[in-house]
Amino acid sequence: MTKTSSYQGWNITEAEREIYRQRSQASSLAKVKALRGEGKPPIHPINQPKLNPDTLMAKLANNGLNSLSLFSGGGGLDLGFDRAGFNHIAASEIIPDAGITLKQNRPNWQIFSGEDGNVKMRDWRPYHGLVDVLHGGPPCQPFSVAGRQKGEADSRDMFPEFVRAVLEIEPRAFVAENVTALVGKKFQRYVAEVIESPLAQKYHLTKFILSAPDFGIPQVRQRVFFVGFREQKIAAKYQPPQPTHYWPDLSANTTQKTVQLNLLSSQTLPEKRCLGVREALGLPDIGFDGLAPTIRSGLTGPRHTTSILSSVSAQKVWEKLQIWPNGVAATRENAHLFVAQNSHFRLSVPDCAIIQGFPESWSIYGAVYMALGQIGNAVPPPMAYWVAVSIAEALLSSS
Ligand SMILES: C[S@@+](CC[C@H](N)C(=O)[O-])C[C@H]1O[C@@H](n2cnc3c(N)ncnc32)[C@H](O)[C@@H]1O
Repeated sequence: MTKTSSYQGWNITEAEREIYRQRSQASSLAKVKALRGEGKPPIHPINQPKLNPDTLMAKLANNGLNSLSLFSGGGGLDLGFDRAGFNHIAASEIIPDAGITLKQNRPNWQIFSGEDGNVKMRDWRPYHGLVDVLHGGPPCQPFSVAGRQKGEADSRDMFPEFVRAVLEIEPRAFVAENVTALVGKKFQRYVAEVIESPLAQKYHLTKFILSAPDFGIPQVRQRVFFVGFREQKIAAKYQPPQPTHYWPDLSANTTQKTVQLNLLSSQTLPEKRCLGVREALGLPDIGFDGLAPTIRSGLTGPRHTTSILSSVSAQKVWEKLQIWPNGVAATRENAHLFVAQNSHFRLSVPDCAIIQGFPESWSIYGAVYMALGQIGNAVPPPMAYWVAVSIAEALLSSS
């Protein structure tokens, strides 16, 4: 396991660490027995998902625009831009396993990973004039409500590095993505001083929030996007993506928030329905379906984890969905063999990938916690895709 400043756990006491250790040892033992066929007999057949996220982002022809990514993780944003027809020039990511994910899926991309992918160490000036769109999701832990919200006092705050890269490369446009807490009151001064003020010298800026189910992804998840264009006339015409899907019953998920910024005011409802998470995963009808609660990354929190549970209220939703969000299995076969104590459906890494909008054709490298880390940190690729499409439309309409 590689330790980097990007995914340190919170400080916990030795006693707390010991409780976690014992719990995880007991669970590992139970898993080993189950995989040997000595556990409870399987009750859920191996599921065949109904949702293929590739269908949410039809591959577009090469649009002649070059993109470069920072903080690329397991490639959510990168995959969305790729499907939208961009040429990917290079990606930088500090976690070696995430670098392997990118390399194994797109061997022709230039990937800087591990210390070589540390954006702090890179001089971006050689890319000046070569990049149309620079995109990236600087780590969200400094701003996330699930963390301590120390902002710029958190050593993981990488927005200044993102800003430096934009100013050195001077792409035609940039996209920075993060948690919505960043545009809350607490970080107003931070956003104005660290992000907007230095970039506004050369860019025309806009920001908006997108919701995953609006793009067919069966999960309660919102992300804020900061977009900048060098040319004023392009910025003036720019339209953020409009929803492609509707979720029929918002009341079914009490965790759904309705935060809207630069309100995406689609006048008419899109025709396509976002599937519930059970339907998306191909699980039998139990008379209830809903959106999955926001999934957490296996790399954040008190320790690395194979649970995607993000909160107490999320626990209630998973229970209603009869899905067990802890002890995620590496494969569907293993999930089938390792019956959850409460007999609910056990998730696997490929199922979590679908809940985050990754198609099965995109393989995610690493141990379960590491794969869940990359999945949970990602921008859902179909959401990234529609952002990429909107930016390509703006840039190409002016040429
Ligand atoms: C929010 S995740 C990005 C997710 C990605 N945009 C996606 O859609 O899949 C932030 C990423 O930044 C990486 N990171 C943190 N510090 C870094 C650094 N100094 N240089 C490069 N990558 C870094 C983390 O390892 C993590 O994968």
